[in-house]
Amino acid sequence: MEMVWILVYVLLFLSSLLSYLLLRKHKRSPQQRAKLPPGSMGWPYIGETLQLYSQDPNIFFASKQKRYGEIFKTHILGCPSVMLASPEAARFVLVTQSHLFKPTYPRSKEQMIGPSALFFHQGDYHSCLRKLVQGSLSPDAIRNLVPDIEAIAISALESWAGDRYVNAFHEMKKFSFDIGVLSIFGHLDAYYREELKKNYCIVDKGYNSFPTNIPGTQYKKAILARKRLNQILCELIRERKENRLEKKDLLGCLLNSKEEKGQILTDNQIADNIIGVLFAAQDTTASILTWILKYLHDDPKLLEAVKAEQKALYESNDGGNRPLTWAQTRSMSLTYRVILESLRMASIISFTFREAVADVEYKGYLIPKGWKVMPLFRNIHHNPDFFTDPQKFDPPRFESAPKPNTFMPFGNGVHSCPGNELAKLEMLIFIHHLVTKFRWEVVGSQTGIQYSPFPVPQHGLPAKFWKETSN
Ligand code: HEM
Repeated sequence: MEMVWILVYVLLFLSSLLSYLLLRKHKRSPQQRAKLPPGSMGWPYIGETLQLYSQDPNIFFASKQKRYGEIFKTHILGCPSVMLASPEAARFVLVTQSHLFKPTYPRSKEQMIGPSALFFHQGDYHSCLRKLVQGSLSPDAIRNLVPDIEAIAISALESWAGDRYVNAFHEMKKFSFDIGVLSIFGHLDAYYREELKKNYCIVDKGYNSFPTNIPGTQYKKAILARKRLNQILCELIRERKENRLEKKDLLGCLLNSKEEKGQILTDNQIADNIIGVLFAAQDTTASILTWILKYLHDDPKLLEAVKAEQKALYESNDGGNRPLTWAQTRSMSLTYRVILESLRMASIISFTFREAVADVEYKGYLIPKGWKVMPLFRNIHHNPDFFTDPQKFDPPRFESAPKPNTFMPFGNGVHSCPGNELAKLEMLIFIHHLVTKFRWEVVGSQTGIQYSPFPVPQHGLPAKFWKETSN
C-alpha cells in the first residue's frame, strides 16, 4: 500500500514539473519577448568607440538619432550601451524607474575621487548623504554667502586685468574652486586653502590620465596627492570636532549627521564627499562661465542689454559702494536668461551614464541587465521640436518655461545636481562685477571647441581684461 502512495506522489510531482516547464516555454516574460533597440555594435571589442571620439561626439549622437530615432544601441568604451534621446526616455531612466539604473563610473575614477562620494551610490546611503549635501547648498544656506562670493569674484577679476592674455577657462577653474571651498568650509585658513588647492590640482591633472602604478606618471602622482588631501581633510575634521563649532557649511552638515540621525559617517566618508563636491563643482561651473564670456563677447547688443540691467543695480547700490543683496541677485532677469541659454547652448554635460541592474523593457525594446544606458541631454536641448532654431543663442526664449523634462542642464531625478542654486548664484554675481567694471577682448575669432573633458571654447578662450576707469 505504501508503495502505491509513493508512486502516486512521484507521478504527481513529475506531472507538475512537466506542466511548469511547458508553461515556462510558452509564457515568457515581456522582457524576454522584447527585442533590442535598433543600432549597430561596430567592431568586435572596440565597438564604435573610434567613430565616437574621432570627431565631435555630438555629431555621432545626432547622426545616430537621425538614423534610428529616440532609442538606439551601440558599443562604446568596451560596453554594450543604449542611448536615449527623448525627454520621456530620460525621465524613465533618471526619475520614474531610477531604481533600475545605477550610477556607473570606471573603478580608477572612483578610487581617485573617493569611493564613498555620493554620486557613486544608490539607495539609503545615497539619499542620506544627498539630504546633507542639499541642506548645505539650499537657497537658505547659500544666501549668506553673497558677500563672500562677491569678494572672490572681484579679486579674481582684478587679478586678470592688465595688458596680458589670460586663459579664461583656467582662471574660471580657480574661481569656481574657491567658491567650492567657501561652501564646504566657510572661511578657511589661507594655509589650508593653499594646501588643498595645490594637491587638488595634481589630482585634477591625473584624473583623466592612464591608470598605472608606475612612479612618476601623472596618475601615480595624482593618487599620492589624493592621499595627502585625505590627511589634510582629516586634520580639518579633527579641528572642527575639537572646537565644537556649529557651522551650516557642508562640513558642518556632514559632521552633524552623526548627532541627528545616530548614523555614523566616518572621517574617510566625509573626506570622499568633500572631494566629490569639489570635483562636481569645479570644471562644470568654470566651463559654463567661459562660454558666457564668449557668448556675451560675440553679441555686443546683448552685452549692452546685460550691462544696462547690471548698471541699474550698481547705481542703486551707490556706485557699487554697498554690497549686492540676495534679493538683487533674484531680480537679474535678463542675466538669468543668459545663464539658462548658455547652459542649453553649451550643454556641457552632454549625457550621463547609468547601468541597468535588471532586464528592463522600454517601449517594447529590451535594455539588458548590465548594459550602459545614456540619456543624451544635449540632443534634447538641441531638438527643434523643443527649442526653435536650436543653434541660435537666444536668451529671450526662456521668457516662457521650456516643456517639462526638455531642459536638464543639471540632470533630473534622484541624482540631479544639488549645487545648481550655488552655481547660478556665483554666475550671477560674477557677471554683475564683470560687466559693470570690466571690458574684455577674446583672442582671434575662436570658433572651435575643445573637450577637457567638458566642452570649452578652443584653447580655454585666451582673453584680455581691462578695468573701466569711468567707475
Ligand atoms: C554649471 C555648473 C554645474 C552643472 C552644469 C552641473 C551639472 C550636474 C549634473 C548634470 C548632475 C547629474 C549627473 C547625473 O545624473 O549623472 C550633477 C550632479 C551633481 N552635482 Fe552638479 N553641476 C554644476 C555645478 C555644481 C556645483 C557648484 C556643485 C556643488 C557645490 C555640484 C555638485 C553636484 C553633486 C554633488 C552631484 C551628484 C548628485 C548625486 O549623485 O546625487 N554641481 N551636476
